[in-house]
Amino acid sequence: MSFVVAIDGPAAAGKGTISKAVAAHFGFAHLDTGLLYRAVGAKVIAGEAPIVAARALDPVDLENDDLRTSAVAQAASEVAVVPAVREALVAFQRAFAARANGAVLDGRDIGTVICPDADVKLFVTASPECRAERRLQELVGKGTETTYDTVLADVKERDARDQNRAAAPLVPADDAILLDTSDLTADQAIAAAIAHVAAVRG
Ligand code: CDP
Ligand code: CDP
Repeated sequence: MSFVVAIDGPAAAGKGTISKAVAAHFGFAHLDTGLLYRAVGAKVIAGEAPIVAARALDPVDLENDDLRTSAVAQAASEVAVVPAVREALVAFQRAFAARANGAVLDGRDIGTVICPDADVKLFVTASPECRAERRLQELVGKGTETTYDTVLADVKERDARDQNRAAAPLVPADDAILLDTSDLTADQAIAAAIAHVAAVRG
């Protein structure tokens, strides 16, 4: 039986950082499901229709280095409201979750829609200001010219679209553990997540 860890939360809350560390600690595979939506968003920017792009998505598309830009993030959140786009991506995510050694999936709807029976569900959050500052540092580190106000507006716009959409909105599962990382270092957040998983796994 696979052991599934579902990690959901808003943009730049630290889901990816925590997921990678949890996966490495327990020897689980990790899927950043945001990359699926980003890959579809990138194809839409290139002129493809969202549903066609989602149905034709290939794992190789996830290796595109240009998926981390703010423009692609916005396009991702726009295609993510389309039910047929979401449906086209379900089978790939569930197959990944069924991996024998265990899997960590992070995104928006893992604990609510993709893996409602996950063994551990974490809802990772932090204040919008805190998340914008973190994302700004990442973008500046990659040489992107932007400002704190631009990044904060982008984060808030995506949060609102993700929370208010009808299909699989961003909302904590009833049985999710909330982890607010606003006042935690990345290492502290990772340690808290590993402790929760270890408590369930024994
Ligand atoms: O996956 P998600 O968009 O939720 O966040 P991420 O890609 O893990 O990015 C979070 C950024 O904030 C990374 O640069 C982390 O080093 C940093 N960070 C964190 O993840 N957690 C903290 N408690 C503090 C900082
Ligand atoms: O890294 P960050 O948290 O900024 O974004 P991401 O996880 O790469 O997700 C990009 C966008 O894809 C989100 O704003 C959502 O609209 C969408 N998404 C989703 O709808 N469902 C998921 N499971 C993952 C991402």
